Amino acid sequence: MSADHLPAYRPVSHSRVTLTELMIPSYANFGGKIHGGILLSLMDKVAYAAASKHAGTYCVTVSVDGVNFLQPVEVGELVSLLASVNYVGRTSLLVGIKVIAEDVRSGSVKHTNTCYFTMVAKDDEGRPSQVPGLLLETPDDTRRFLEAIKRREFKEQYRQEFDNARSILALEEQQHLLEKERCQLGY
Ligand SMILES: CC(C)(COP(=O)(O)OP(=O)(O)OC[C@H]1O[C@@H](n2cnc3c(N)ncnc32)[C@H](O)[C@@H]1OP(=O)(O)O)[C@@H](O)C(=O)NCCC(=O)NCCS
Repeated sequence: MSADHLPAYRPVSHSRVTLTELMIPSYANFGGKIHGGILLSLMDKVAYAAASKHAGTYCVTVSVDGVNFLQPVEVGELVSLLASVNYVGRTSLLVGIKVIAEDVRSGSVKHTNTCYFTMVAKDDEGRPSQVPGLLLETPDDTRRFLEAIKRREFKEQYRQEFDNARSILALEEQQHLLEKERCQLGY
């Protein structure tokens, strides 16, 4: 499928999806909490759903940012992943995902994580294909779009600075940094 049949712009609301899943005992790790990998898989699914709805094509996951498991998710909780496209480039889309977990007995809801998946739309030959622009319908849509621009800039800046730091990392000169760390040279 080509980009020709697609509208020039699609509203953010067109890509908004919620995926809800009950955390069953087989999802638990040895400590009785939900495996991080289960949540990652759900995030990937909901990111795909939001991106492909906007793009009108098949999409692939390119990069994942901001995944932190700071609060455990328990067996029996209802996990909902709320996703929408926050930003589009030419062929790439940034999907924002808010993850909440609800204890159905007490009714308490915790916000466990917000993360960002970069997806790329592909045509039938597997080439990156242009996606519709994004129609920002609310001030929140605009805020998320602007934040995505900043996030991209910071990520690129970080990548360049880290590449620089790595290229000038002279092992002999930097070994004093290891003194504060919990490691020992074994060679
Ligand atoms: C990511 C991928 C599509 C890039 O393909 P490419 O031929 O290099 O295409 P381009 O350089 O034109 O990049 C396409 C888009 O991806 C974006 N992109 C490429 N690498 C990226 C990265 N590391 N992080 C974020 N975005 C990236 C580019 O910015 C571009 O976006 P834009 O069109 O909105 O400007 C390609 O490497 C790929 O298919 N990777 C495998 C993805 C996959 O199969 N994932 C499933 C999990 S295994």
